[in-house]
Order: sequence, then structure tokens, then C-alpha cells
Amino acid sequence: MAADGHVQIGSLTLQQPLGVGTMQWGRTWLDQKLNRGNLDDQLCASICQEFAEVHGVQFFDTAEGYGGGTSEERLRDVLVEPLKDQKQPYPCIIATKFLPTLARWTHGSFSRALQGSCQRLGVDAIDIYFIHTPIHPLPLEYWVHAACREAKAGRIREIGISNCNAQQVRRACAEAQKHGRRIAANQIMFNLLCFQSPELQETLRACQENHVQIIAYAPIGQGLLTQALTDEKFSRIRLAKMTRLVMDELHDLRGVIERLASKYDKSMAQICLNWTICHGAIPLVGTRSMLQAQDTAGCLGWRLAAEDVEELDRHALKRSTLSKPRWKRVLFVTFITLLVFSYRVNRWADWLRSKWHSLWSWRGHRADCTVETSMYICCLSLFVQAAVATATPFITRAELKVVPGTVDIVDFATGHPRLYIFMSSLRWVSTAALYLGVCVICAHLWGQTDEPVWVILVMHLGTYFFIVHFCLFLCVSIRQLSNVSMLDGIRTLTTAKDTVSICPMLSVLFIECWVAANDIRTPVGLPGVPQGFAQDYMFVATWAMLMQLVVCFVNGFVYTLPKDSKVMRLCGNSLRGGLTAISIVFYLTLVTVYASILVVLVSRYTNTARAATGAGAWFAWAYPQTVDMPTLRRRQSSPLCVAVLLCVVAACDFVFGLNLLFTAPAAQVSVRRQAATGPSPVSLRAREVDEEEVLFNFNKKKKKGYDPNWERPFPRYIVGGGIFLTIVGFFGGGPTLAAVWGLCGAGFGCLLEPWQTPDGEISGLYFEEDDE
Ligand SMILES: NC(=O)c1ccc[n+]([C@@H]2O[C@H](COP(=O)([O-])OP(=O)(O)OC[C@H]3O[C@@H](n4cnc5c(N)ncnc54)[C@H](OP(=O)(O)O)[C@@H]3O)[C@@H](O)[C@H]2O)c1
Repeated sequence: MAADGHVQIGSLTLQQPLGVGTMQWGRTWLDQKLNRGNLDDQLCASICQEFAEVHGVQFFDTAEGYGGGTSEERLRDVLVEPLKDQKQPYPCIIATKFLPTLARWTHGSFSRALQGSCQRLGVDAIDIYFIHTPIHPLPLEYWVHAACREAKAGRIREIGISNCNAQQVRRACAEAQKHGRRIAANQIMFNLLCFQSPELQETLRACQENHVQIIAYAPIGQGLLTQALTDEKFSRIRLAKMTRLVMDELHDLRGVIERLASKYDKSMAQICLNWTICHGAIPLVGTRSMLQAQDTAGCLGWRLAAEDVEELDRHALKRSTLSKPRWKRVLFVTFITLLVFSYRVNRWADWLRSKWHSLWSWRGHRADCTVETSMYICCLSLFVQAAVATATPFITRAELKVVPGTVDIVDFATGHPRLYIFMSSLRWVSTAALYLGVCVICAHLWGQTDEPVWVILVMHLGTYFFIVHFCLFLCVSIRQLSNVSMLDGIRTLTTAKDTVSICPMLSVLFIECWVAANDIRTPVGLPGVPQGFAQDYMFVATWAMLMQLVVCFVNGFVYTLPKDSKVMRLCGNSLRGGLTAISIVFYLTLVTVYASILVVLVSRYTNTARAATGAGAWFAWAYPQTVDMPTLRRRQSSPLCVAVLLCVVAACDFVFGLNLLFTAPAAQVSVRRQAATGPSPVSLRAREVDEEEVLFNFNKKKKKGYDPNWERPFPRYIVGGGIFLTIVGFFGGGPTLAAVWGLCGAGFGCLLEPWQTPDGEISGLYFEEDDE
């Protein structure tokens, strides 16, 4: 340190030997928890102003690891940007740190980290770039080399290391020298709690030999060496826990500091900081309030007498973090990696949240937002169901067997009934979510007034379609959850389901007809609509559909439904008259539907500018003839999505036979033909069927040697580990951390679960005989 108080850190000159630490300046949930309350930008700006403008302190220290980079962002907002606005020569020195986590293994990752810090700080180059810790499977030299390359490229002004002992300092300096650079600073814990430690003393000597400036973090022992320390506060200070300090050990040392404080009329913090400066180190203080800032700055401009410095040296303790066993430091870095990963996930979550909000913000009004959210829920639930329905037979080791005493009813036998129940429940919940979403959308559609005709018709068709499927879902659920047969209901609704299966295609036809007409301009320049007769036949088709449905229900509930429910073929019985009437009505409506479809199809290709006014429609009273384009566009989105939804459901059902709308057993998919007589008796309570003929085995690949009778026990380690770490994560940092930790916990649990080796042995870390 120069006689005028200036300090050199490599080529950089500090007017005052003091630095401002920003470890407590992160903006995330986690920082709020760890630091007992988030500092706000206004307070941080005032602290910077107090140090920089009033006391001439230039050195600000941050790190990408502090608040997952949010501390760097805060420093940009409260210090770098305001300084840029003043258009003065840049007066501050900003240091940040590279964290060698276990996710980083290349020079490229070093460059990306540096680039990230520059972006977050809003600068082109970093004044001092520290390597935060030497602990990493790659040697320290590797990261020093990377830093030298960046320094040569001009992105780093000075290279620093942190938490390095004597040997590491020497190695780092030698490596930097090899590349024509130097190590300017070593940031270590330096205070009266560790001064007497031999490791620290040796490190100080190594730094002196290599002209490496010591930057002293935790100079007031995170509050352990200040007046404000209380028993309650002691138990919260991390440094005390890390160094296994007990309050009594501080007694003598604090006594000396207190006496000197009253001798010099200074605070205890100021005595400690001045002592640090007297040893040629630059103290870095983590300031959390304006009072602390003013108090801290009071350590400048005076010096302790040499004998007082010596007295403090004598009473200092030897709790250096440099002497920690390597495995503890490795554990620490692993923990830090997990923490950084959590911060990263938190950022992704924030990004997703912002996208989600911006998605809604342009929509404006609230009703639309709910409706569109419901649409997303519907699509998601369909996706979940498709995935579950496809995966269930395989992961539950399913076999399809003929039910004893029957020839054509198939049952679903599984090696894992509990897993099957879980998957079925998942499927049931997603179906329920689907119907909830459908209810919201339909309620919204039915509440609309003054809609163009196709909106009204799609609304009707969608409602018929979903009501039938919803009723079927209810019946199948009741049957699965209780002993009630519901067979009549299910058969009637299966017929109704076949009837409404045309609704999605009808909707698409109506919409297509309307969109095509929209491209035509009427003689008065308005967008065209389908011809009057086309609109009428759209109505007719829709009403005919409704009539068909009514007939299905009357036939099912009033009369006895014929066994073959696919076709309305009648079998002779005493109610022949009624059934014949129903049959006639059914076929009439069927013909009406197809005739109407034909008319609408023809109209689609024969529309002209003169006819596109929609004039002459019989049902014109039921809907507005012209709707202005903005209104039309705004209203198009909801029913259009319903139509798309209908098509997706119908396609999945038809092509894959997934039966997404009434949670039929997954296995029914592959053997539709056998199961065509009606829903199979498979229930949430999957039954095991033994000796019958196996129709299909989803688990064919089972290797020889596996014991087929071994039933995997309940995955208690996975579930327990997941739940435990979710709770810990939640209290530690909120929902995001809970999710990340919960997954990790379940992952660890996996390691402990028993499993079967290819030769049939049961193995596992904590496997006991009882588990078998
Ligand atoms: N390189 C590394 O590995 C590493 C590790 C740790 C820290 N650091 C750097 O070093 C900086 C400082 O370290 P640190 O924050 O851990 O320890 P510190 O500066 O010794 O302690 C900071 C705490 O002491 C209290 N305090 C601050 N000024 C005070 C004053 N004038 N009077 C009384 N109490 C005061 C505050 O706690 P209360 O408000 O609770 O009283 C504050 O949170 C960090 O911000 C960070 O930049 C680097």
C-alpha cells in the first residue's frame, strides 16, 4: 500500500483501501430467505452513492454465483448505468467471479460465463475477474489458462483467484506467468478469527512473494466482531457454523476490540476493518443498510498504532476456511453446483412465466384469458392421456386375456395392479380436467350474442359431442369405481358416441365454407358469407344431428337397445311398433344430415359475389347477416379452437383407438375388434386372470432368468426421498427449488430401490429379504 493510501491491484489503482461486497444483493426468493429480506434497488443505490461519492470508495465486488447473477444485475442498475448516464470517465472498479461448477469443463464454458457476467453488468470487460474457488476436478491451472486467454483478448483487465492457499497461489502464478500474465489478487477470508492460522500465514507469504494483493472477505466475521452481536444472532451467522465457533471463544478477542474501540472512539467494526488495512489487505464489507455504510466508511483516514495492531494479532483466532478438509470443500462445491442449477431453473421458470403473461396481455380481457387457458388445459390433458394410454400396457406388463366363460370379452391382466391403478387414476384426472376445460369453453360460447351462423352451429355441434362423451365418461367411471353395472347406459351412450362422431367433420366443413366465402367481396365491398340456402342447410344438418341423438336416447332408455349397437338394426319383439317408428325417424335424420352436407359442399364451390350476401336464408332471423371483420376475427379464435379440439379427439380416437374421452382401458386400443361388443370389464381395480388364453402380451421382451412372480415393492425410497427433499427445497427457496430438489430426492431414492438382475436375483443398496 502506498504512503498516500492508494492501493494497486495489478494495473488498477484504488484511491481508498476498501471494497463493497454485494453477496447480499441478490434479487431471488432464495436471497430473501438467506438474507432475511431482500434489499431494494433504492437502498442499494444509496449505499453505492454513499461509498463512491461521499467517501471515494471505488471497489465493488460481486459474482455470478450471488443470487444466480441477480447481484450483478442489481449492480448494473444502481451503479454502472447511472455512471454511464453521467458521461464521466469511469471511476469504479468492478470485480466479479467465475464459478467453476461441475457443469463447466471447457474454456468455452469459461468464456460463456464471462460473457454472461459482462451482459449482466452492462460492461464490455471485467476489471478484475476472480476464479471463485480452486475446487474442481480440473486443475486450477486450466481455469487460469482460460482467464489468460480472455485477458489477452481484452475481456478481463486483471485476473484474480479466490479461496486459494499458498500452494495454489504459487501454482496459479506460475501458470499465469507461462502465458505472459499475472495474478493480481487473491480473495480470501482474512479477519481476526483466522489470522493466527498457519495456512493463512503461509498463504500471506506466498501472496507477498508473488505480488498478489490480498482482498479480505468477511473482515468483520459476518457480524461476529461487531457491537450488534447477540446470542440469537450468533446462532444465525453462517461463518460461526462453518468454523464451528462457540460464543465463549470470542470473549477475549471481542474484549480487546471493544477496549480499542473506546480508546479510538470508533465502532468495533471500524477497528477490525482498520486492522485489516494495516496488514495491507483490502477489506470487502457486505453492507446491508445506510447506517452500516456510514459506519464502515469510518474505518478510512486514520490508522491503529503499531502496538494495538500487534495486540490484536496476538488475540486473533485460527479458524481459517483454507484449512478445511478437501472432501468438505468438494461437498461444498457440489452443493453450490446444485444451487446454481436451481437458480438457472428459477430463471427458466421466470422466463416461462413472463412468456405466459405476455401471451395473455395482448388478449386484454379476462373472459378470453380464462377460456384460452381452458383450451390449453384441454390440449394438455389430451396429451397426457395419449401418453398414459400408450405407455400403460408396457410399463404395467399387461396381457390381454379372454374372460372365463365368454368368447369375445377381453380382460386386461397386469403384473403390476397398483401401478395400473395409478396410471388409470392419472388418466381419469386428466379426463376430468378436460371436461372442466370443455365446460368453461362451452359456457363462454353459449354466453355470446350476435354471432355469425357458423359460430352458433359449431357451438351446438361441440356441445352435443362433449355432452355424449361426458355422460359416457361418468357411466364408465361409476362402473369402475363401484359395483353398479351401468351396462344399459353405456350401450346407449356408445351408440350416441358413434352418432356424434361426425360432429368434428361437420364443424370443419361449416368453418371452411365460411372462410372461403370471406374471401369473396359482395357488390357493396363487404366480405362475403355462404349463400342463404347454404346457411339454411347448415342449420338443417345440425338439427338433424340433434334429432338423431334424441332417437338414440329414446331407443336406449325407453325401448330395449338392440345388441349390436353399431347399427340401428331392429330385432323383433313386442314393442315392434315403437321401434319401427324410431327406426324410421333415425334413418330420415341420417339421410337429412348427408343431404345437407352435400348441399353445403356444392354451395362451397358455387358461391359468387352476388350470392355471397346470404340473402334469402330462411333462418336469417337467427343470426346477424354481416359482422364487421375485426369483431369476426376476435370471435373466430374460440370456436375455431373448439373445432380443432374436436378433430384432434376424433382423430386420436379413430386412428389409434385411444378413447380419450371416456377413459377406456388402455389395452382396448390394440384389440379393438375383440372388444367391440362394448366396454371391457377392466376397471381401476385391475383383476388378475390366470389360465385363460393370452391374446396379447405387451411384455414379450422379458429375458430368460427374470422371475416373473417377483413383484416390485412400493417405491418407498423414491417417494420418500422425493417428498422429503421437496419439503426441504420448498422451505429453502420456494416452489422452484422444491421441484428441483424433489426430483433430485426421487433420483437418489432410485438408487436405493430393489431391482431384479437378469439372472433373477433381487438386488439393491438397502434391499432386505422382507422386501421380496
Ligand atoms: N470469494 C468468496 O468466496 C467470498 C466469500 C464470502 C464473501 N465474499 C465477499 O465479501 C463480502 C463481505 O463478506 P460477508 O458479507 O460474508 O462478511 P462481512 O462483510 O464480514 O459481514 C457482513 C455482515 O456484517 C454486518 N455488517 C456490515 N457492516 C456492518 C457495520 N458497519 N457494523 C456492524 N455490522 C455490519 C451485516 O450483517 P447484519 O445486517 O445482519 O448485522 C452484514 O451482512 C461479500 O459481500 C462478498 O462480496 C467473498
